[in-house]
Amino acid sequence: MSLKTGPVTVIDKLRKTLRHHEHRYHVLADAEITDQEYDELLNRLKQLEMAYPELVTPDSPTQRIGEKLREESASVEHSVPMLSLDNAYSINELLDWEKRVHGLSGVQHNGFVCELKIDGLSVTLRFERGELVLGITRGDGLRGEDVTANVRTIRSVPLYLLDSARWGQGKVEVRGEVFLPLTSFQEVNQERETKGESVFANPRNAAAGTLRILDPRVVAGRKLDFFVYQALVDGGIPWSKQSEILEWLTRAGFKVNPRWRRCRSMSEVIDYCQEWEEKRDQLTYEIDGVVVKINSIQVQEDLGATSKFPRWAMAYKFRPRCATTLVKDIQVQVGRTGALTPVAILGPVELGGSTISRSSLHNNDEVQRLGLKIGDTVLIEKGGDVIPKVVQVIDHLRPDWAKDFKMPQQCPVCGGEVCRSKDETIVRCVKLACPARIKESILHFASRRALRIEGIGEALVSQLLNRGLVRDPADLYALQAHDLVGLDRMGPKSAANLLAQIEASKKSSLSRVIFGLGIRHVGERTAMVLAQQFRSLESLSRVSPENLSLIFEVGPVVAESIRQFFTQPSNQTILSKLHQSGVNLKESQSAKQSDTLRGHQIVLTGKLPTLTREEARALIELQGGRVTASVSKKTAFLIAGEEAGAKLEKARELGIPILNEMDFRKLVQPH
Ligand code: IVH
Repeated sequence: MSLKTGPVTVIDKLRKTLRHHEHRYHVLADAEITDQEYDELLNRLKQLEMAYPELVTPDSPTQRIGEKLREESASVEHSVPMLSLDNAYSINELLDWEKRVHGLSGVQHNGFVCELKIDGLSVTLRFERGELVLGITRGDGLRGEDVTANVRTIRSVPLYLLDSARWGQGKVEVRGEVFLPLTSFQEVNQERETKGESVFANPRNAAAGTLRILDPRVVAGRKLDFFVYQALVDGGIPWSKQSEILEWLTRAGFKVNPRWRRCRSMSEVIDYCQEWEEKRDQLTYEIDGVVVKINSIQVQEDLGATSKFPRWAMAYKFRPRCATTLVKDIQVQVGRTGALTPVAILGPVELGGSTISRSSLHNNDEVQRLGLKIGDTVLIEKGGDVIPKVVQVIDHLRPDWAKDFKMPQQCPVCGGEVCRSKDETIVRCVKLACPARIKESILHFASRRALRIEGIGEALVSQLLNRGLVRDPADLYALQAHDLVGLDRMGPKSAANLLAQIEASKKSSLSRVIFGLGIRHVGERTAMVLAQQFRSLESLSRVSPENLSLIFEVGPVVAESIRQFFTQPSNQTILSKLHQSGVNLKESQSAKQSDTLRGHQIVLTGKLPTLTREEARALIELQGGRVTASVSKKTAFLIAGEEAGAKLEKARELGIPILNEMDFRKLVQPH
């Protein structure tokens, strides 16, 4: 490509190429080029656009992530009201619906389309002349919020329609569901938990919360996704079936959920519903049912809608994953930040494949909101991989002896003073030396996502604390065999093992050490950014908050918290003890790129024994490889951990090599 052809042509061609590759990667999960090749193309376009700013258009692939919005989003009227769906809670209710449809339409319709009911929030996208101009939430169905800047950051949303030529000057609207895939949901919540923020109850709330964030740069980091299921075209749609709409949407470059199925009869519809109720856990996103639609658009129009629902569609809702059990007690735990958390101690109950015997109630407000007393029978719910939650008190089962819960006025562990957060929701023990806080901070330091010292559990840390053998995480490095031998279940062999683990942890990466320190608001991701930027704990400890907040991802609150951490003398002591013990406090040079995986697509599935998702991805990318979401013929190999599901099966089917974490480590870190 030479500039002699003129910048307009070159820019245009680059944009087309980039759009093509975005679609292959984010919609079809079947990339043709590596991330690096993509980045090179994008950089070339960015440079040209810098040289010719007058040629920048909003639909350019460089323009996905815009500036921070200054105010709440505006309310916008929908061109056609966004209706909701009527629900069927049983197969019988679904059959009743079909009978009504028959009675009303009087004609034999040509069957149904069944789609998965994605548990997210519905959004309309408006395209003019092929270009995305507006994104609106459902709101009250008549008016919704303008969330254009945020939906633009969703990589599977085309900023420009691939098949746009067919619609010339026309307006096209598509509707679908914005959702947060389960892995992204877990990442968001883990990050929030380590920052001491409240976690989202389910992926839908997380997606809704994310769409409302004022800074599109933050939204872009959350990995929202979008499945489209409906199209509206100026002057009426030129298709006669819902199945044709779904096929056109796919051709136009949208991500359509591929699991939809044409069904000729209600018995096929029922099969589909039952099949997915069973298989819902195999999906990488939450669904809460199946949407059954009459396929013929003519029949849909004949049936019309009530003020709330179309008559031509029905949502078959899955049975919720919930159970009832007794709240035997409410205990108060003290966390690493000193936060006092009430925890419901439950009569053990089976829920979604595991036995639940306790559930966090988060804070006193939550206990009051539920109106919960000790002795109550409650409904607990679990969605996908979500932590089980007490959702409701069953009032009529309350016994006479039910007891009120009161948040203690003193720390239940050290008896020290407690203080309330400004909004009064969180009560904290203020004593830094509170044994509970120290215990939690040591457990956090040694945890899998931090310094990974296996064998350090609650019982051991309690004993070490009681005997005065440790007072902070750095003291772990001063432990000797004779300190350990003689503790509960600790013979010479296990003591030696533990000491070897502690020794090995000295070589952990800087980001793990930063995360392990448990600085408030510094989660795994922030720790990685800090390690990359500062390259040593020393330079991080010396930086001014002003310079810190210049870093992308580090806002003023995080910066202030880092400053506070490093100014505490007790923390300075910890740092110098870590340094003296020989713990690695510098970023290693291994950040150099290598080529082992160049051009290879790799899929990750299940929980790996030591690496987090982010780390595995970083290792792959460092070696020039690329992580893709689904297994296909192009997958070079699958890295599988515990609880691997559908992807593992698919890889076996296709004969794709399957590696465990050990095999993978040997491949990328041969020494
Ligand atoms: S069709 C006019 N199809 O479910 C009817 N809705 O409970 C338009 N949903 O508001 C909806 N997946 O947010 C349709 N495949 C799907 C869907 C779907 C999820 C949501 C949508 C709707 C809600 C109703």
